[in-house]
Amino acid sequence: MCGIVGYVGNRDVVEVLLKGLTNLEYRGYDSAGMALQDCGEVKIYKTLGKLINLKNELEAKKSELNHPTSGIGHIRWATHGSPSLINAHPHTCSCGRLVVVHNGIIENYKELREELIKKGCTFRSQTDTETIAHLVADEYAKAKDLEIAVRNSVKKLQGAYAICVMHKDVPDVIVGARKHAPMLVGIGENENFIASDTPAIIEYTKKTIYLDDNETAVVTKNSVKVTDKDGNIVEKKIEILPWEPMALSKLGYKHFMLKEIHEQPDVIRNVLNGKLYDIDSPINLSEVKLDKEILKKLNKIQIIACGTSLHAALAGKYIIEDFAGISVEVEASSEYIYRKTTTDASTLVIGVSQSGETADTITAIKQAKEKNAHVLIITNRPDSNMARLADSLIPVNAGIEVSVAATKSYTAQLISFYLLAINLAEIKGTLDKNYLKDIKHELIQLPTKIEEVLSNTSAIQECARKFSSYKNFIYIARGINLATALEGALKLKEISYINATGYAAGELKHGPIAMLDETMPVLSILVPGGITYEKVLSNSEEAKARNAKLIALTSSKDTNIDNLFDVVLRIPQVMEILSPAVTCVPLQLLAYYIAEFLGKDVDQPRNLAKSVTVE
Ligand code: G6P
Repeated sequence: MCGIVGYVGNRDVVEVLLKGLTNLEYRGYDSAGMALQDCGEVKIYKTLGKLINLKNELEAKKSELNHPTSGIGHIRWATHGSPSLINAHPHTCSCGRLVVVHNGIIENYKELREELIKKGCTFRSQTDTETIAHLVADEYAKAKDLEIAVRNSVKKLQGAYAICVMHKDVPDVIVGARKHAPMLVGIGENENFIASDTPAIIEYTKKTIYLDDNETAVVTKNSVKVTDKDGNIVEKKIEILPWEPMALSKLGYKHFMLKEIHEQPDVIRNVLNGKLYDIDSPINLSEVKLDKEILKKLNKIQIIACGTSLHAALAGKYIIEDFAGISVEVEASSEYIYRKTTTDASTLVIGVSQSGETADTITAIKQAKEKNAHVLIITNRPDSNMARLADSLIPVNAGIEVSVAATKSYTAQLISFYLLAINLAEIKGTLDKNYLKDIKHELIQLPTKIEEVLSNTSAIQECARKFSSYKNFIYIARGINLATALEGALKLKEISYINATGYAAGELKHGPIAMLDETMPVLSILVPGGITYEKVLSNSEEAKARNAKLIALTSSKDTNIDNLFDVVLRIPQVMEILSPAVTCVPLQLLAYYIAEFLGKDVDQPRNLAKSVTVE
């Protein structure tokens, strides 16, 4: 989604802004722009499409620029108004002296727009953002102070915003403000930064101040002043960012997605580190801040999430119910927030989110808190808004994930659920001691098993080549791998734009089977050892009888299945309950290679955003 970066200092401003925007572009966008303060003037550059277009535009117009000393940049993911040059940010007031970039949605923009038009403002775009530019200019005309003008203006805004404002008459000052959208200030030596997310500034500084809702920041080369909604100075804590700039490099891989898939064994080791020592010691999960006596009596958990995190949540349900015998409901955040839920003070509500910024999940979490539920957040961003709302926080430590399609953050979420479920089972005494040891042993083995999958991907590549021309896919599984089927199908949809749907294998005969013929491949996930294997095998036979091409993803050594399936993708043997951490990997790779064969933009699929900050 949209991204903001601002800079005041001695470096090449264009370069800093382009670098910052490049590091945010993984979030998904359709146009880009920047405003530069250059020798008493504000100059604006905008282009459609990828950042390279903005870079080329700036290169072509280099001679127009003397010596920019500050600027604000933006990438836009269209919400109000189509992706067009006129709708791209920055936006200006009628006279063009004031510029603004904005992330979020202003819900009352129509009313404000009408009022401002009556006052004589000339609107050029269809965006909600342009309203902010006119509004702040109107307030500036009265207050003659940019900080006060911004503070007074944002009081009139309803909705979500992170904004940066500059004015021609106030050189080298950037005023930022936020509500329900992230914004941070990066502190340097004789230079300062402002951005919507940390990757935008990580190459220059690790010292950061996170703004809270209703705060305003005035950023100059040598100062940062943060005030609350009444203008009182707020003393902010400087935090040190946990990321390394290296995380934003592909390290020789063709795409971030491929790199991130290959990082999964180490990611799992990281999540287990310090929590699972050996098979005889209890799990150390001090992150769960609920009293043991309360946990012993806990009988209701609700997990809320979106997208890939929702699939991790579904796996989490199977894991927690299996290990700890606690009833678990799983719901998409966007559904949870618009109905009467049974959440109460005795419910443990778990929010799952790689970004920690997903608007629907944040709203759901806030609602759960209002009902006095204990909120536990599983996120890859301990510096996020969601993490700040948590009563208990399990940071999944997957490292920054750049590819829009989530991979390593998913496996990290899965492993967090295993640890949580074992922790609950140990407190409640619900698992047999030997079974518990087997599970812990297998958990420790998971990275090696995934390494085995990653060490030879030729069969997956061959399968991808063979099936890349099909337009529809069905993925089936039973039990805990239903989550894998849904996630595998989602990965394929996201990056190849092929229609793929995951089903509980038993549901195939209740409708989807009508679609089966030689044009609809069926991918079956078959993990022996439990009760689902034979059943999925029968369901695959049913698909075969309707001429569907069959792909098996299995840990079975039975060579007879090679006769039933057109392609058999084999993975190492793994306990069924732990298998989703392994079965998801070949499906991520299959989606990746199909998208690659089709020449799709793997890391930045069309229409998608990494962090969805609108409801
Ligand atoms: C977007 C991303 C998905 C992600 C979903 C939920 O749609 O493209 O990859 O699964 O948001 O995001 P979250 O950050 O809450 O996990």
